Amino acid sequence: MRRVATIAEMRQCRDDWRRQGLSVALAPTMGFFHEGHLALMRRAKTLADRVVVSLFVNPLQFGPNEDLASYPRDLERDAALAAEAGVDALFIPTTSEMYGADFQTKVVVSGLSQGLCGASRPGHFDGVATVVTKLFHIVAPDVAVFGEKDFQQLAVLKRMAADLHFNLRIVSQPIVREQDGLAMSSRNSYLTAAERQSAVCLSQSLALAKQLARDESVSVAAIEQAVTEYIEKQPGFVVEYASVVDGESLRHADAVGQNSLLALAARVNGRVRLIDNAMLRRS
Ligand code: PAJ
Repeated sequence: MRRVATIAEMRQCRDDWRRQGLSVALAPTMGFFHEGHLALMRRAKTLADRVVVSLFVNPLQFGPNEDLASYPRDLERDAALAAEAGVDALFIPTTSEMYGADFQTKVVVSGLSQGLCGASRPGHFDGVATVVTKLFHIVAPDVAVFGEKDFQQLAVLKRMAADLHFNLRIVSQPIVREQDGLAMSSRNSYLTAAERQSAVCLSQSLALAKQLARDESVSVAAIEQAVTEYIEKQPGFVVEYASVVDGESLRHADAVGQNSLLALAARVNGRVRLIDNAMLRRS
């Protein structure tokens, strides 16, 4: 596996592959790999001849009071795991490589970025859309892989790729979970042992939502309330949102339909923010 630090070298690598007629898949990440990231890489392997993984903790998508400084990092471990997963190039640019001193441009996907996580993280999806645009231009992949764990991010990036005519396909990877059901996340490392145990309430609340959704007499509001109450039974857990939305438009749903999704975000002792989601189906 090649470690690539500069944009010029990444482009060179991409051009060499293109000349050889090889297709390229990209999986963008912020590192501190877990099985969710590795599943993305293995999926990417099945979609193209060469796999590029970018590892860049993107300052533009963190708010002023968020965890940019404390975001977990372990480059050597990440590099070993990526190599094991069959990644061909690990692109690890510095912040100054990605954002020159006079950087002024932003990509904004207006509608889809507004609700859910966008409501409590203003500017977050502008930061994501901007860095992913840069990565798409640098790597010029044939296919890019993103996880369904960050469902709103996926929707925003699909919209962006279509709106800006990126010549690539976006593939989504289902959520990878711990044995007890907790969605894997680099941020799970912030949880204390007790918090980690309690955090299973998130995926359990989604199972409850799925079960309630099967009964047509249960309203969307009742599902959202049941999920919120279930999570907030755990000491220190506060729900930021628990919303039934349409899986494509992400607009709030009046009733559970074919493509409904329950998306939720919760804070643990004001310190750690966790997200999860699941499709809901009537019948
Ligand atoms: P990061 O949180 O590192 O996630 C990188 C990719 O892994 C994303 O596509 C995310 O959805 C996926 N992922 C994370 N946990 C997952 C899980 N448990 N199951 C399946 N997929 C999972 O998301 C980002 O980084 C950044 O916003 C990024 C897109 C790299 C832009 O900076």
